[in-house]
Amino acid sequence: MPDTPTRRDFVKTAGVVAASAAPAIQKVKAANNQVQFGFIGTGSRGQYLLKHMKDADLGRCVAVCDIFEPNLKKGAAAIGSNPKTFKDYRELLSYKDVDCVLIATPLFQHFPVTRDALLAGKHVFCEKSLVFRPEEVHALRALANERSKQVLQVGLQRRYSKFYQTARQMIDQGMLGQVTHASAQWHRNTFSRDPWNRALPPGLTDRQYNWRKYREFSGGLTAELASHQIDIADWMFGSHPEFVVGVGGTDYVKDGRDIYDNIQLIFKYPKGQKLTYTSISTNEHLSMFGGSRNQFGEVIMGTEGTIEITVGTDDEPAIGLWFREPKKAEVTPAGAKKEPAAVASASLASTGKGQRSLPILFERDQRNPNDSFLVKELKFARQWLYAKGVMVPEEDRNPVDVELDHFLECVRSGGRPKADLEIGLADSTAVMLANLAMDEGRRVYFSEIDKLGRGQTKKPA
Ligand SMILES: NC(=O)c1ccc[n+]([C@@H]2O[C@H](COP(=O)([O-])OP(=O)(O)OC[C@H]3O[C@@H](n4cnc5c(N)ncnc54)[C@H](O)[C@@H]3O)[C@@H](O)[C@H]2O)c1
Repeated sequence: MPDTPTRRDFVKTAGVVAASAAPAIQKVKAANNQVQFGFIGTGSRGQYLLKHMKDADLGRCVAVCDIFEPNLKKGAAAIGSNPKTFKDYRELLSYKDVDCVLIATPLFQHFPVTRDALLAGKHVFCEKSLVFRPEEVHALRALANERSKQVLQVGLQRRYSKFYQTARQMIDQGMLGQVTHASAQWHRNTFSRDPWNRALPPGLTDRQYNWRKYREFSGGLTAELASHQIDIADWMFGSHPEFVVGVGGTDYVKDGRDIYDNIQLIFKYPKGQKLTYTSISTNEHLSMFGGSRNQFGEVIMGTEGTIEITVGTDDEPAIGLWFREPKKAEVTPAGAKKEPAAVASASLASTGKGQRSLPILFERDQRNPNDSFLVKELKFARQWLYAKGVMVPEEDRNPVDVELDHFLECVRSGGRPKADLEIGLADSTAVMLANLAMDEGRRVYFSEIDKLGRGQTKKPA
């Protein structure tokens, strides 16, 4: 029989999330108390973020900028606050009403725009992957540290998800035992839908519009997709990799792209931990969550349990499941081992039955000693329903909304973002070195970044 979740399991899961803290947000609507922000790069992601900022209490969009007129108009329409429009981001940066900027340009433009924004005294939110080239890692670290009072946040929204925060707390509480491995995938099928091959608007070339396909502008699958998930492994392991090996190929998608269409990576962390990573462009099946989701998810494995997790979107909730490892063999008083069923059946070439999953639980579902009898029973009932699959725990806010509010709050209070400079630089470093490992077919050590990009700072266009 698979283990049935018990009342004790619920209490144990619930107990770890006490500190799960969404940023405390002061409700202000007074115009003079709002952060005035500008937005640079109002393409697909930019418009999405602007829509999410439309009703932000903490900030007001006063300026938008894009070099491509149709996107500039769409960006202004998405926020609806009648912002000033600019085609040159330097003009936006010299507009004195702008306290801070959000940047969602293509990757190769992240560094020059972020650098100029910091130099102009603005706080910055920049989409992932933070920087593109090794020299930019060093240059941005130096500049941001000189200007440490300016906020610098990176668009790694999983850092703002209660599910991922709870997973990290479960690890801290020892609920997975010793965490030794993680695996992650982001699989797409470009033959059924290819968001990187957008139909060209008049006047733009494929290289300009579908920039993700070209190494001159893009870090490919590693930068665009893996960056989110490598950051999760770093967070869950509590360290950065020692080295990476990998194989990539442009084997199936023959449309002129020079990035890899499939990548397989292994990152080795201190203490022997490994992240195995795969991103392909020919199949989007996800072997987690019983086929209820596709494309992307992560698995964190420890000696006592596993977490399967994926982030929510506007349309789908996040999912976080916890599986326990089989119980240890019991030792009888006489000292003889009594094998549990799964182990005994190994001699019959069976691995034993799987464990039932337990949902990851949030603050509102936790039971605490001060709860009234009625509240305790209600929480228990909800936890029971979660475990039976009748209800699923859901985040009350999309982590993208949380990250954006958090940025504005940090700008107001001088607070430190969860996804800060060093998290962004570590993530970008992992992207660059993983690509190097695949390009050169060798083990690339993370210490190499110290030498890479020194003395070759390019003047960006
Ligand atoms: N966090 C996430 O989950 C997430 C999701 C999607 C995209 N992104 C990131 O957002 C960024 C943008 O992606 P996208 O899909 O919106 O790309 P996109 O091509 O749709 O949009 C980029 C926009 O930037 C504009 N632009 C280019 N150079 C500019 C410059 N110098 N000044 C002003 N505007 C300029 C382009 O004209 C375009 O409108 C990328 O870095 C991507 O990785 C993050």
